Amino acid sequence: MHQHHGLLADHVDGGSVPAINDAGVELKASGVGQTVKVRGAARTILSDVDATFSPGNLTALMGPSGAGKTTLLSILRGGRCSMGSMAIDGAPYTTATRKLIVTVPQDDVLLAGLSPLEMLVYAAHLKLPRALGRAAKLARVQRVLSELNLEGEDQRTRIGSVDARGLSGGQRKRVSIGLELLTNPAVLLCDEPTSGLDAKMAADVVGILRALSQQQRRTVVATIHQPSFQLFARFDWLLLLSKGRVAYSGAALNAAAHFGALGFPTPPHENPADYMMRLLQDVEEARGLDLVAAWAEGAAAISQRAAHRLPSWKPVGVTVSMLGGGSGGGDNGGDGGLLEFAYRTSVLCHRTLYDSFKDPAKTLKTVILKSMVGLLCGTIWFGQGRSGSYGDIFSITGALFMCVTTSTLEVLLDTVLEFPLARALLLRELSNGHYSLRSYYVARTVANFWQACVNTVLVALPVYFMVGLSLTARQFGIFGGCLVLLELIGSCIGIMIGCTSNDINDARTQLVPVLAPLLIFSGYVVPYNNIPAYFTWAYYASFFQYSFALLMINEFADRTFTRDCPAQLAEQQVLAALEERLAPYWPPLPHNGTWPAHNGTWPAHNGTWPPPGPWRNWTWPPQLQFTCTGREYLQLVGMWPNKFGAISNYFAILAGYLALAFVATYVVLYRVTTMKMR
Ligand SMILES: Nc1ncnc2c1ncn2[C@@H]1O[C@H](COP(=O)(O)OP(=O)(O)O)[C@@H](O)[C@H]1O
Ligand SMILES: [Mg+2]
Repeated sequence: MHQHHGLLADHVDGGSVPAINDAGVELKASGVGQTVKVRGAARTILSDVDATFSPGNLTALMGPSGAGKTTLLSILRGGRCSMGSMAIDGAPYTTATRKLIVTVPQDDVLLAGLSPLEMLVYAAHLKLPRALGRAAKLARVQRVLSELNLEGEDQRTRIGSVDARGLSGGQRKRVSIGLELLTNPAVLLCDEPTSGLDAKMAADVVGILRALSQQQRRTVVATIHQPSFQLFARFDWLLLLSKGRVAYSGAALNAAAHFGALGFPTPPHENPADYMMRLLQDVEEARGLDLVAAWAEGAAAISQRAAHRLPSWKPVGVTVSMLGGGSGGGDNGGDGGLLEFAYRTSVLCHRTLYDSFKDPAKTLKTVILKSMVGLLCGTIWFGQGRSGSYGDIFSITGALFMCVTTSTLEVLLDTVLEFPLARALLLRELSNGHYSLRSYYVARTVANFWQACVNTVLVALPVYFMVGLSLTARQFGIFGGCLVLLELIGSCIGIMIGCTSNDINDARTQLVPVLAPLLIFSGYVVPYNNIPAYFTWAYYASFFQYSFALLMINEFADRTFTRDCPAQLAEQQVLAALEERLAPYWPPLPHNGTWPAHNGTWPAHNGTWPPPGPWRNWTWPPQLQFTCTGREYLQLVGMWPNKFGAISNYFAILAGYLALAFVATYVVLYRVTTMKMR
């Protein structure tokens, strides 16, 4: 294990694991139904579900795809439904009792780079009360790992993902279950824990679920697809759904008898579980009989009889001791206050940073990729900042624009690409109360800030030094500060787009309309003076514009250019005119663009000298001013006199933008997560 850092330190010495009350918790659905609005019309996806989920029971929730299994699970989780009612131990759900219930989602959303041990240790720090102490938390992690049969090397293997192999699917599923076991929940709801697993792994997972239900009289419900008979037989109870209605609810082993009584005995050599599913899906197989109606009518008696075979159980009410026993539920319950909040936020920060920098190879790859952009720009515009030639202004402007756009776009695209995955993990952990959205947001912002600094160093510094921009501490600080602000704005926009879109295509449709105007009105593509009056508002709305102008003013306001200036060219025109004026007096001067060195003797002339006119006081050679200022250029492109006052004002505007982006991102995240968790 990783001795070197605090959170994952390796002391396992005792630490009591509060057990849940032996009485367990009963969930009861009475006439539960759910309607959703699909294009304005209400659609019923679940109706009239009566079912009891008792402690110590492992219930299989089966039914064809679209039958409403996932919907029912989320109703069991939250207790909210549009018809009927849910009760937990005979009472309506409360914030406190909801914490006894956890869900294991269908997809194993985990941090691929971490090992099961690390993942669980972080979860323990996030989920368990801070007061429990590190040793107790680690002890609980070890206990969960052994309950899950994840021991030895498996604990330390990276979890991996589809494209980077790590643990097997069954092991990943077990880690996923383990994350929710840390608080010792009374009710465990698993959505399709065996889908995608082979028979052996599926049997392992169901074995663990069964053990979990029996050991501490937990209530365990799992939706399940096509179980083998052997697997099916390990479930105590079966709730069979068909198109949102109950087709059977009772002891799993009595199900075959129920369908037998309706005239559908399981054919020999067939798995009863498969046969039941076939009956539900295939009208011909069921010979037109409505199995749902048949169940609703009379067959309830069978379940009554079956119920007698199970140990009787009376609701005793959720006891306080169960809630005190470490069902942390993050910092969102208001318990624990600021200290708890700060603690969880710091753990989350630690995890985010640890995850992104854990793998040295990956970190190196990121560093190289990012600095490539900087090096490329640096090479293209190498040394042009130092030349002092007016003609290079355009190149420097290009380099500055590159810095502005790459620092924003790079982080924006990165965030958009990675956020759908991060969102899945966020939703999972939020809904199971690992932490609050506030904690997540603060931690994410800290991580983003860190990332922004690293990116600025990797991308912008090579450009700065290779191009040779003005090197004073002040100008350099302004340059770096501006880019960090931009990166932060970029990551906010990335989060907003990433969390409101479900995939990359979705994201693309939002990206283009957001980015195109920002870039067009950045002040680079179209100079301010050339923007049509009816579009100037877009110019003022683009944060690119403020940052670009800021960098331009920062770079050019105090510079003077001495070669190829328009002023120099103008002086040469004056000389040409002078020469023309002098032509009657002496032959053309032998210069080719530059004035000849004067060797003390004058060329012979054929008129009177000095020529008439107000020129008699001229000194020779003429003192010509071959310079022009950066401000003149800024004036040309409409950035000078600077419209928003001093550079600090530009910073203030950008900071305002960032504050706005922070708030907007939080609101969007809040809305998306509450909507998705419903
Ligand atoms: N938010 C929703 N809006 C519209 N339809 C939904 C929504 N949630 C679920 N459904 C529909 O309800 C049905 C049941 O969904 P679900 O519970 O996910 O089924 P299962 O998990 O059994 O496959 C499906 O036909 C699904 O399309
Ligand atoms: Mg489902």
